[in-house]
Amino acid sequence: MPEKYGIIGYPLMHSLSPFMHNRYAYYMGQKESYEAFEILPERLSEDIKKLHDESVLGLNVTIPYKQKILNCICDIDECAKKIGAVNTLKYTDAGYVGYNTDAEGLKLSLMEAGISLKDKDVLILGAGGAARAAAYVSSVSGCSSISVLNRTLEKAILLAEDFEADAFDYSSLNKISKPEYIVFQTTSVGMYPDVNAMLPVPESLYSRFSAGIEVIYNPKETAFINSVSKTGAKIINGFSMLVNQALASRLIWHPEQTIPGEIRRKVYNECSDYSWS
Ligand code: ATR
Repeated sequence: MPEKYGIIGYPLMHSLSPFMHNRYAYYMGQKESYEAFEILPERLSEDIKKLHDESVLGLNVTIPYKQKILNCICDIDECAKKIGAVNTLKYTDAGYVGYNTDAEGLKLSLMEAGISLKDKDVLILGAGGAARAAAYVSSVSGCSSISVLNRTLEKAILLAEDFEADAFDYSSLNKISKPEYIVFQTTSVGMYPDVNAMLPVPESLYSRFSAGIEVIYNPKETAFINSVSKTGAKIINGFSMLVNQALASRLIWHPEQTIPGEIRRKVYNECSDYSWS
């Protein structure tokens, strides 16, 4: 019997995870099945118990369950606790343990791009779950400062309190005053289908970006990436992070494995060519 894995969410129509994990398993020569389990909100705890009874060994967790799943797990990893969201579950006899691989995926992408956060000033656009992962990585990587810029100041302040950051909204752009920033774009602005939408970030601020990291992966080249690339700064696109957070899940499920760079590049290229239709 192949080992069973999958993703839970609702709805799950456009998830790339089954394709991505099947490709990783194929190249690693692993016999596993990876399925999309669309779970209705009112059935979450019941269905998680069922998947555990069926010995599903690992699950990815996506919208809208990254927080709700906290009520259905038997333990939580430190990083997931600090970020306040779980996107990966690992089977144990006592139940599922919750992890968050967004931070690890981000770290891998930064490493691949040769970007170090040590002693750097970091600017995070947005204050949702992805922003928390970016703040976590920045703080554990020894950055010099974290600034959070968000439409809703209250949310930026909440995040800032947890990660010793400074909070700003778009009315106080002039207070964002460091000469250079590594910038994480974590908002949904510019995501398909509204691909031309842009945050109200002035060109004068873009010119101080030394690197831009985008979390949106559809489209592959967002308006944010286009603007950052004009300044000559380094760029990480959302695909890189998507593929690396999947890789980080696999390393939690199979801690004994190393996935060679060649396989990672192949999966990345195949995902880049994946048709969303
Ligand atoms: P995720 O968990 O994926 O990070 P989220 O929690 O929904 O997603 O967060 C989305 C982020 O995009 C938020 O920071 C949101 O800003 P608000 O906190 O003000 O809602 C930001 N966002 C969404 N639409 C936006 C818009 N039109 N302009 C500016 N920011 C926007």
